[in-house]
Amino acid sequence: MSTASIESIVSMYASWGSEKYDEEITQLAHALQCAALASRDGARNELIAAALLHDIGHLFEIERKNGPDHHIDLRHERTGSEFLQAFFPKSVTAPIAMHVEAKRYLAANEPGYVEALSHGSQQSLEVQGGPFTASECAEFLGLEASADAINLRRWDDHGKVIDLMVPEFDSWIPLLREVANG
Ligand SMILES: [Fe+2]
Repeated sequence: MSTASIESIVSMYASWGSEKYDEEITQLAHALQCAALASRDGARNELIAAALLHDIGHLFEIERKNGPDHHIDLRHERTGSEFLQAFFPKSVTAPIAMHVEAKRYLAANEPGYVEALSHGSQQSLEVQGGPFTASECAEFLGLEASADAINLRRWDDHGKVIDLMVPEFDSWIPLLREVANG
């Protein structure tokens, strides 16, 4: 990945990362916690990059002053993954594109999952279409990146701890360079 591309990603987080992600924490804190959780769980580098960057679509919305999609679904998972496709392989972008679908899958299949979601995430589940039907679940599971998307979703759901100390964004830049397209 060119220096300009890395810089454009870093500057998105530098400019808009201090905006709120959920009720309590910032976009940047959420991204860093998700990456730290993925790393702690021994995820491969592509999936750690996905965890770090999975909500970059929200930063584009903030840049356009739309705010997180609690009221209308702006498909942040699609805008983010489409932007990142120019720089990263599918092993990074596919789980990002599917992380909302993974929530809808887990909501349909895991007892207590919805109740354990943050208030903001419960609200967005509704505008995102709610729990998957049985046939939507089967279709989701048939996709190549479904297992990665489910792992990403679990880090996403847990990366919302107030004032947790985690490695800074700059510490992930070498990993981003490593997994980026030649
Ligand atoms: Fe997220």
